[in-house]
Amino acid sequence: MGRRFGFLIAIAILATVPKINSLENITAVKLKKFINCEDKSYESRKGIYQDYWVLENYIMAGHGKLSCYANVTYSSHADYSYLDNVVPLLERWRSPLSLAIYAPGTDFERTLDSILYLLQCHPGRHLVSELTSFHLYFDVEHLPQVVLSPKAALGMKANCSGPPPYENVARKDLYRTRQGLYYPVNMGRNIARKASLTHYVLASDIELYPTPGLVPDYLNFLGRLVIGRPGQLPTSPVVHVLRIFEVMANVSVPNTKMELQKLLKSGEAVPFHMEICAVCHRGPKLEEWINATVVSEGLNVFNVGHRSQPDNMWEPIFIGTVEDPPYDERLTWEGQRDKMTQAYAMCVLDYEFHILDNAFLVHKPGIKQPAKSKSVLTHSSRRTNGLINKKISKEMRIKYGSRNGCVL
Ligand SMILES: *[C@@H]1O[C@H](CO)[C@@H](O)[C@H](O)[C@H]1NC(C)=O
Ligand SMILES: *[C@@H]1O[C@H](CO)[C@@H](O)[C@H](O)[C@H]1NC(C)=O
Ligand SMILES: *[C@@H]1O[C@H](CO)[C@@H](O)[C@H](O)[C@H]1NC(C)=O
Ligand SMILES: *[C@@H]1O[C@H](CO)[C@@H](O)[C@H](O)[C@H]1NC(C)=O
Ligand SMILES: *[C@@H]1O[C@H](CO)[C@@H](O)[C@H](O)[C@H]1NC(C)=O
Repeated sequence: MGRRFGFLIAIAILATVPKINSLENITAVKLKKFINCEDKSYESRKGIYQDYWVLENYIMAGHGKLSCYANVTYSSHADYSYLDNVVPLLERWRSPLSLAIYAPGTDFERTLDSILYLLQCHPGRHLVSELTSFHLYFDVEHLPQVVLSPKAALGMKANCSGPPPYENVARKDLYRTRQGLYYPVNMGRNIARKASLTHYVLASDIELYPTPGLVPDYLNFLGRLVIGRPGQLPTSPVVHVLRIFEVMANVSVPNTKMELQKLLKSGEAVPFHMEICAVCHRGPKLEEWINATVVSEGLNVFNVGHRSQPDNMWEPIFIGTVEDPPYDERLTWEGQRDKMTQAYAMCVLDYEFHILDNAFLVHKPGIKQPAKSKSVLTHSSRRTNGLINKKISKEMRIKYGSRNGCVL
């Protein structure tokens, strides 16, 4: 009876209060208690980490220090040629972005020019400067010619009459390509996630755009979970998965599940990388998810997956926390399987992957076809497979143990 009454009140509130773009006070109070995280200091730091210089918070966001429980950070790796994604991403995300950019040698200068262009020339510059923390990293063996102090860098003037420096960059012209350097993707992922000022992070790839309103919806969803079972902590760690789709180059990114369903029906949208690696992205009940009609506002869990058989190749992207297992820094982008060891750790630790119903990610428009030339890839995938099989898998077993159904 009491429960039903509560339910009716909830509906009444949903119906009468205009949709607000932030947390209700009660949710904030509950989340603060539930998450129990500590706020981080926010400052520029530089340090050597393994074989890299890391300039953490080289360019800081206008939002300044944040409450660790009251927001979600989107974290990603990139090089400067991907910076065209920053504004379209932020227009939808409108919450903190922690971005680690690999900038060895002369790529550093182009990276700085690109950032300055985004901060000074782009029509979306206010979003960029308010929300983005830029971290730069490069090999100690491939130093830039000059590294200005953050203050001096910010004082430089961008050339706003030229084209954006990150546009139409040919892969072959990147310093790293010319030098034959591997892209240290997991170093970037870890730097970006570690620098998050919030406890909850969406560790993603910068070309994946979330549905608008995701952060307030997610925090209110968490708030409902916490209020629903006070004092009762889940036994397994839980992360919240966002399904991923691609749309044709001539189609704009859908904002709601209903828009997405229309595009899927017409064939203008497809599940992510189905042509390239279906098992990496399918996960459990993809067709059911696609078919399910939207019945409520806000977010709910559609179904729960695990990273074990038959989904042991699944590479989901999810909202997790800064405490989830790190990415393995020896694995590179070129080698593929770059999330395999993290996934193994999460399998052994029995993480539950709760798939959200009304939120998802869409890749920057344009459907990717399988690569024609595979020669570089196969060479480094062989290197990765050798590394995973021999050295890493032994270490992972020592570090995390093993569990039935978890494979590397
Ligand atoms: C998250 O932080 C950004 C930047 O300060 C702010 O604009 C946004 O409203 C915050 N989100 C919530 C849910 O409080
Ligand atoms: C909730 O609201 C009260 C009174 O309006 C305020 O004092 C308190 O700081 C708020 N709490 C949070 C976590 O926003
Ligand atoms: C700015 O860019 C324009 C267009 O590429 C170029 O003509 C001009 O010389 C540049 N200005 C400076 C100061 O570099
Ligand atoms: C996009 O292009 C495809 C064919 O390539 C066409 O079928 C579709 O109608 C186009 N969509 C829009 C929104 O223009
Ligand atoms: C999804 O819907 C289509 C078309 O209505 C139907 O053919 C298909 O069987 C459904 N699949 C699932 C798994 O529900």
